Amino acid sequence: MHILHVVGARPNFMKAAPVLHAFAKETNVLQTLVHTGQHYDVSMSDVFFRELEIPEPDVNLRVGSSSHAQQTGEIMIRLEPVILERKPDWVLVYGDVNSTAAAALVCAKLRVKVAHVEAGLRSFDRSMPEEINRLVTDQLADLLFTPSQDGTENLAREGIASGKIRLVGNVMIDSLVRLLPKAHCALPNLPERYALVTMHRPANVDDPDFLGDLLDTLNRVGKVLPVIFPVHPRTRQRIGEHKLSDRFSESVRLTEPLSYLEFLSLQSKATVVITDSGGIQEETTFLRIPCLTVRENTERPITATLGSNVLIGRNMQRLSEEVERILAGGFSPGQIPPLWDGRTGERIAREIISEPRRTEAVTMHHI
Ligand code: UD1
Repeated sequence: MHILHVVGARPNFMKAAPVLHAFAKETNVLQTLVHTGQHYDVSMSDVFFRELEIPEPDVNLRVGSSSHAQQTGEIMIRLEPVILERKPDWVLVYGDVNSTAAAALVCAKLRVKVAHVEAGLRSFDRSMPEEINRLVTDQLADLLFTPSQDGTENLAREGIASGKIRLVGNVMIDSLVRLLPKAHCALPNLPERYALVTMHRPANVDDPDFLGDLLDTLNRVGKVLPVIFPVHPRTRQRIGEHKLSDRFSESVRLTEPLSYLEFLSLQSKATVVITDSGGIQEETTFLRIPCLTVRENTERPITATLGSNVLIGRNMQRLSEEVERILAGGFSPGQIPPLWDGRTGERIAREIISEPRRTEAVTMHHI
């Protein structure tokens, strides 16, 4: 059996690693790894491959950054010949980035089977590019692996046949469980207690007024709790463009994007995490660390209903108040959702191996 994995952006790497490792233990499975090059900086890509022990990609499409249509289109154009040449039995796509939707579309048109890892998540907010990617990918996928029951229910509501859906748990937690014992961060002079911040969503960083308010609020938080803020390239660009670089007080420590092991270490010891990331809501839930999410909605509601996540919206007053509440001890660590147990990669590999083999040839039909 030939499995081709498509990854492209930072949050894909910790999801693909456990599945690659699970298939590597199987005999008679050939694996091909395609990196679209959506993320290309060493700090956003290479260091993750190294720490997660992902093999070098067999193919790098080197698409880089551009508009959504250009990036998505370029991935499709460059991926199609790879699929035609390599003829995989299954293509695995991960999460909700542009690389995910682009690869699903290429495979669906070539009638190559696609499996979506982390299917069924919905924020019900179509202003998020990731929501569009999730909707498109799930409509096209032949097999949909959901991390939690809410994902399975969303797919059923959208008319996806139940026979295509498998509730397997959260694959990103596999990487966390495996690598937490090795997590370490060499940042000098780490304080005992701190708030760890990440922020990169267009809705939060592209609007100069909101970004300014957010930075002011972090300065205020910094007066009661030191702040560590590894800055995503998109956010760094926006801070520069909006001329906000001198807005930070000394209690907010800015760093380059951190590696997986460094960030995991900082998360596991944080007093509170403040974020707009999807994956970090899940990692803090597993680690039972308080998480304040600066978004109006989440595609991962279980992190708020069961886990340690609190959605604070874009209300900066509320952000300061919630930090104070946590510092005063008013926080419940929540529970770890079912099947977030470190074995999801194995379950995915087993499900795919037990699927019937492809009989159709992979060929291009010109229009
Ligand atoms: C992408 C994903 C998002 C994910 C995030 C995690 C989409 C639609 N979005 O957002 O779901 O949460 O990755 O990081 O796929 N850049 C660099 N170096 C890099 C990568 C990006 O400098 O290695 C800069 C580029 O100038 C680019 C900007 O960051 O314009 C944004 O990159 P892009 O891939 O468009 O989306 P992200 O905001 O990273």
